[in-house]
This record gives sequence, structure tokens and C-alpha cells, in this order.
Amino acid sequence: MDFTETKKPGPPDFENARNKRQKVRAAGMDPNHWYAVEHVDALAPGDVTEVTFWRKSVALFRDEWGTLHAVENRCAHRQLKLSLGLVEKDRIVCPYHGWQYDGEGRLVSVAHELFGKKLPKCKVKSYAVRERYGLIWLFFGDPAIAFDVAMPEIPELEQEKPWACIPLDFTIKAHHSMIIDNVSDFTHAFLHRKYKPFWDAKLVEMKEEENRVLVSYDTVIGGGGATKYFVDRNNIDTNSIKLGYEYPYQWSNTDGQIKHWLSVLPIDERTTKAFFIFYFKSFKVPFLPLRFPHRLMKTVLRAANEVQIKPVMAEDIMACEAEQRGYEEHYDEPIAEINPAVHAFQALTIRKWEEYLEREAAKKRVKLRRGATDAAE
Ligand code: FES
Ligand SMILES: [Fe+2]
Repeated sequence: MDFTETKKPGPPDFENARNKRQKVRAAGMDPNHWYAVEHVDALAPGDVTEVTFWRKSVALFRDEWGTLHAVENRCAHRQLKLSLGLVEKDRIVCPYHGWQYDGEGRLVSVAHELFGKKLPKCKVKSYAVRERYGLIWLFFGDPAIAFDVAMPEIPELEQEKPWACIPLDFTIKAHHSMIIDNVSDFTHAFLHRKYKPFWDAKLVEMKEEENRVLVSYDTVIGGGGATKYFVDRNNIDTNSIKLGYEYPYQWSNTDGQIKHWLSVLPIDERTTKAFFIFYFKSFKVPFLPLRFPHRLMKTVLRAANEVQIKPVMAEDIMACEAEQRGYEEHYDEPIAEINPAVHAFQALTIRKWEEYLEREAAKKRVKLRRGATDAAE
């Protein structure tokens, strides 16, 4: 060890990254997708909250009639965060001078005299928002294309007798790519040696496609901890699992009966909010060859969340946060990653971010050119 070293400046940003690991740990996520940001019941009519995507702040509010709106989180007057304000009818009101904005971000009223002037023409950006699967989803990119862009399709949660599901969220002090690596890389059974959500994993398939990476493991699923009592191992093939990093989401599928989707909300380079939608077709009654009736599934899942899913997640969070701290200290050490699936996930994250940056740069070039032509005319 070299004790003469002065303090390092910290990991490089994306542009200055010197290798693939530094690139992936600095990459953002393409805002032109739907991202889960909150639970639907976290915002009652009249509530407002702040949502952050890659350091950009958004005020998300539910108007008095129950409709959600999302606008850039700043008052055009003196740049206070609108999320510090309040909701009146279908408007968000800045707490300082009471300027009011509609759901499109247009200034529609000012609560003081105008000094003989007209209402200023001000508009802050607005974002597309929707509610699905018990979660609020925001589209941080171009609102004009939002509803043409796919989001996770989960028919099992929208059919007449939906599968059991309680979305869970965790704020993790780690880069989003570390979380994607964690959930799709089953070499870390050692971390979960107490609860054994999976073990003896062998990567049997990996396919890289344009927008996704598909992997399959032969492994024992759900055989440890409390899960073994609730998973119907006689009727579910728990010896393999399929996983996908379907940019920007991640999912798993165990024999078409136990599934999940994960949506990561990248807050900044070292903070991510992860929304897990686990859903189960059925649960077995412990020690009996019976399944729980449909109406009790949520109660069982609530218990399973406490005794199995959350404790396992706590181990993953501990590991990801420790990895983030380790990376910030040792970002220049040689790369020692041996799972090819991890390399594939990282390559996809990097490529998608590069494509986004290139599209944005092209837009700016067009704007500049147009500006130059207008000036010349
Ligand atoms: S700063 Fe928002 S109304 Fe003045
Ligand atoms: Fe894990």
C-alpha cells in the first residue's frame, strides 16, 4: 500500500471515464422511458411531493379532483421549489408570492398587484404521468412521445383476479448499475447464505439483444428461509429462473408463477430509488397440500415481505452501498469481473446512455443551425 498518496479527486464523470467500469458507474439513464417514482396512495388529493431524476427536480402533485400532474420544480418568479408550495383546485401555488401554475406548468394567476402590467407569460416544463400497478410513473423525457413508449406490461395484475402484489421501494446509496448487476447476477448466493432465496446458480444461457439482455440460471429458487413453506414446490419448477435486463427495467420469471419487475429511479450518481413489483400466482399453506384462497393472498404476501423479501433486500442494499463506497475509493483498481452477464448488463447501460447523449447533441446542433439561419435571414 502506498501511504504517501494524496487524496484522490474521486471517480471521473462519463466523458472522462477511462474504462468500461468507470463509464457504467457514471452513466445516467435515458429519460425517455417511464420510471416508477411513488406509490399511488402516497399522494392524496391536494398533496405535492418532490421527485428527483438524475439531479433534476420535479414537483408531482395530485389536484383536488384526484388527477396527477408533474411540473419542473421551480417557480419562474424567483426559482423557489414549487414542491414547497400547496395545491389549490388544479393548480400548484408557490409559497412565496402565491404565483399559481396549472398542470402544464403555465403561470395562470398571481396573488398580488401587477403594477399595471399584464400577467407575465411564464411556463415551466411539464411531464407525462400515469398510474399503474399501484405506482405512479413519470416520463422525464419528451412528453410528446411518452404514450408511444412501452412500459412493463403485467397482465397478471390487471386481470379480473389479479395475482398477489405489494410494490416495495428502497432508496439505496448506490449507482443504478450496481443494483442492476446485483439483481441479475446470481453469483452472490454467499451474501444470502442465511435466507437462501437462491443457491448453486449456474448461468446456462445469455442472449444480448438490442434493448435487452436475457439470462437463465439453473438454481434452487425459494428453498430457504420462510419461503420454503409458502412456495408450492410440487407444482412450480423452482430449479431454474429466467431474468431480463429490459432497458431500463429488470425482471425475473420462475416457471411463470413467481415474477417481478424492477424499475430503478436514478436520483444521482450515488443514489437510486428501486421499485420492486413482486407478484405471485399462488401461495401454499405451510405443511399442507393446499393453496391459500385468493382473498388471503395479500395478507400472506405482506407477511412474506416482512420475513423474507425485506431481510434479503437489506443484505443486497448493504452490499450495493458498500460497493459504492468501495468504488469511490478504488475506482482506478483493475477490473476483476468474471460473470459475462454482468459485462453484458453494463455494456447495455453504457450504450443506451451514449445513444441518448448523441441524440441530445444532434438536437442541439439542429437548433444551433436553425438559430444561425434565422440570424442570417
Ligand atoms: S418566488 Fe414563487 S411566487 Fe415569488
Ligand atoms: Fe441478492
